[in-house]
Amino acid sequence: MLNIIICGAPGCGKGTQSNLIVEKYSLDHLSTGDLLRKEINQKTELGVIAESFISKGNFVPDEMIIDMLIQSVDNQSKNSNGIILDGFPRTVSQAEALEDLLIKRNKKTTILIDLQVNHQELINRLLKRGETSGRSDDNLVTIKKRLDIYQKKTRPVNDFYKGLNKYAAIDGMGTVNEIFSRISAVIDSKR
Ligand code: AP5
Ligand code: MG
Repeated sequence: MLNIIICGAPGCGKGTQSNLIVEKYSLDHLSTGDLLRKEINQKTELGVIAESFISKGNFVPDEMIIDMLIQSVDNQSKNSNGIILDGFPRTVSQAEALEDLLIKRNKKTTILIDLQVNHQELINRLLKRGETSGRSDDNLVTIKKRLDIYQKKTRPVNDFYKGLNKYAAIDGMGTVNEIFSRISAVIDSKR
């Protein structure tokens, strides 16, 4: 079983690379951001609450996220070889909750992949996506806020996984395929 976390700043390519990883390794994809945006598009109660946080670049409350996580971990599809977590954990307390939940189910995290992309490239990618994405957080003011919050709240998650000896930094600059080859090499070394 592979339980892979893909982590990194907003715009680093988590979603793009997850799609390729899911295909190659037959994993289920849990993107908390995608699930929240689905709720927003469907104008559910959860979606309305989520949008008020997301549009300002803030994190949504943990309890909304942990429920999504439990559902994904407990409802894996039949032929899946595991799960890729994209956008979770985003704080050390979410990482602790994840590890606790996996241990209780006799599972474990395989590796955290930290996609590293420079600041200006992140802004360029997100502004470009913002031209067509319709995402309320793809504008310069909110992008800067997201990057700031990433530094303060999400980067410490890397140290948490370094402490567990389950951390791999990957150069996230270059073409999508080049980056995917680097990620595949790390995953293959863990199988
Ligand atoms: P989320 O949806 O996870 O957004 P994010 O972390 O800000 O990351 P993005 O989805 O914007 O970027 P990505 O890394 O997936 O990059 P992508 O592949 O799209 O979360 C959104 C919000 O939801 C959060 O701010 C928060 O409010 C809330 N939320 C989510 N999870 C939460 C949690 N656990 N706790 C609390 N709140 C939570 O690529 C970006 C662009 O670059 C694309 O256009 C892509 O085509 C392009 N691109 C990709 N790779 C390359 C490349 N190699 N070269 C050039 N362009 C590229
Ligand atoms: Mg994404």
